[in-house]
Amino acid sequence: MQFSEINLSPQLIEAVEKIGFSELTEIQEKTIPLLLEGIDVIGKSNTGTGKTAAFSLPIIEKITEDTRHFVNALILCPTRELAMQACEEISKFSKFKKFVKPVAVYGGASMDRQIYALKNGANIVVGTPGRVLDHLRRRTLKLQNLSTIVLDEADEMLNMGFREDIEAILAQIPEERQTVLFSATMPPAILQITKQYQTDPVMVQIQSAAKTVDSIEQFYVSVPMGRKTDALHLLLTDKKPASTMIFCNTKKMVDELTEVLISRGFPAIGLHGDMKQAQRTQVMNSVKSGRSTILIATDVAARGIDVKGIDMVFNYDLPQDHEYYIHRIGRTGRAGKTGTAYSIVSGRKQEYELRDISRYTKAKITEVPVPTASVIKENAITSLKEEILESCAMEASEDARKLAQSLMETGISAEDILSAILNKRVADTMKTLPLFDIPRPISRKRNDKQEVRNTVRVHINVGRKERMAPNFILGALVDATGLPGSEFGKIDIYDKFTTVEVPTDEADFILDAMQQEKINGHKVAVKIHEERPGKGRRDEHFSGNRERSGRNDRRNGKNFDKKGSYNNRRSSYNGRNKKRRNG
Ligand code: CDP
Ligand code: MG
Repeated sequence: MQFSEINLSPQLIEAVEKIGFSELTEIQEKTIPLLLEGIDVIGKSNTGTGKTAAFSLPIIEKITEDTRHFVNALILCPTRELAMQACEEISKFSKFKKFVKPVAVYGGASMDRQIYALKNGANIVVGTPGRVLDHLRRRTLKLQNLSTIVLDEADEMLNMGFREDIEAILAQIPEERQTVLFSATMPPAILQITKQYQTDPVMVQIQSAAKTVDSIEQFYVSVPMGRKTDALHLLLTDKKPASTMIFCNTKKMVDELTEVLISRGFPAIGLHGDMKQAQRTQVMNSVKSGRSTILIATDVAARGIDVKGIDMVFNYDLPQDHEYYIHRIGRTGRAGKTGTAYSIVSGRKQEYELRDISRYTKAKITEVPVPTASVIKENAITSLKEEILESCAMEASEDARKLAQSLMETGISAEDILSAILNKRVADTMKTLPLFDIPRPISRKRNDKQEVRNTVRVHINVGRKERMAPNFILGALVDATGLPGSEFGKIDIYDKFTTVEVPTDEADFILDAMQQEKINGHKVAVKIHEERPGKGRRDEHFSGNRERSGRNDRRNGKNFDKKGSYNNRRSSYNGRNKKRRNG
């Protein structure tokens, strides 16, 4: 449906057309008529589907010469950026309806300026719950004539702990009002709010997950633990996205990754919830101006922020919530454009998580190899060739031609001269690339002849008391590490703990991979096993340099007859073929 076909006044239609909208999005088409009629609406649709215009246009439409002198509508948003962004959008929509005055109020900014704006004719207020409440308490914001309240990104506001503030605000506004709620997800807490504060609401759900995701090509790479940053480096170098967003799950990770990418020469910048307002504005300016083309962010910080022209999204960490995957990758491929998303996973567990996400989103996520240095080099050489042939078509400068002639006079062949010049160019493209020639952990198999490898025992704090069985333990190890079952040696199950013999050179990797693992539903702690002194085994204390055969001989000695001993290497168990354990 075209904007011109909808029941909005010409000034508004002119304004949206000027911005470049022609077709209404689905959520707009379904909610705008209801909102114009004053009906309470619950709108659920993905990020980037045009919810801002959906609730703003009816609000702007309904403000008249008669009602312009007080606050008609209040829009609550979870973050300052969202409040600012929505406020800017509303200004654009009301370009030809001059008496509509939106103002954004949010924490971390001058109270005075907000008070001034509120006093001087603001009739739409967009704000974060905390600051809105603050203004209500100071009586610098008066809502007795309010006709519409919008809870935008309601799920996120609840996630961020704004529930009490929101309820305090709802308690202070006229009962005769329109209550509108927009959210990308509908957890039970939202439905509770709806029940309590809305009157005969109409629920509009847009099932656009598949549609949104359809226009986005989705890939993943699987890399060994600790190699995600290098893989990202190679992907960024090979794919050369013009503008990209990288998602991490924690603020710490955002900071660390930003620092590394900057140190490697990428124009990266980080955004997270801990930043001061001035800092966040700076970040967004840097991204909007194109100075930083790589934005690294957490879900909460990035929620709802509308950065234009993202052509690639990376999941450095997989999102904890499946729906977040859709929101993240929805940042690219907006408004009919196609985009690309890459997820970087490490270990079996994350591969399974990604498989779940793919099942949930019904999207095909294809595994691709991390571009190797040689692929990157090949591409670089191809584009260098194109570049040179292009310059051949242009007139060379007098100086260049003179230099060429004098080089040819030396008697060195043209090919040798050219090779010498290109040598450096090719070397330059390659010099900063990380080495990445271990494609996947799975293939770190070694052949039997080259061992004898040293082993060490790792200690897992679950045992017979927790009804552990060797196959649970081995399955978890194989899952978490991606190593073949044959890498693990003897598994000894004691009452309160279990030890597993592992190759010394994989021990750190294994400890790392086992962090936060669960075995048969038990969260476990894994460390290097400290052999108990005083039982004639002092020689093994802290060791790890023994040969495997010697170890096994001793292990079969009398100290171990009270435990269930299991030698994995003699069994045919292959952990990789088993089904996924507990969720
Ligand atoms: O709030 P939500 O995440 O659903 O999306 P938004 O922040 O309103 O962003 C929607 C994007 O689509 C903005 O860049 C709009 O300019 C654009 N757009 C729209 O909102 N409505 C249309 N009919 C066409 C484009
Ligand atoms: Mg929004």
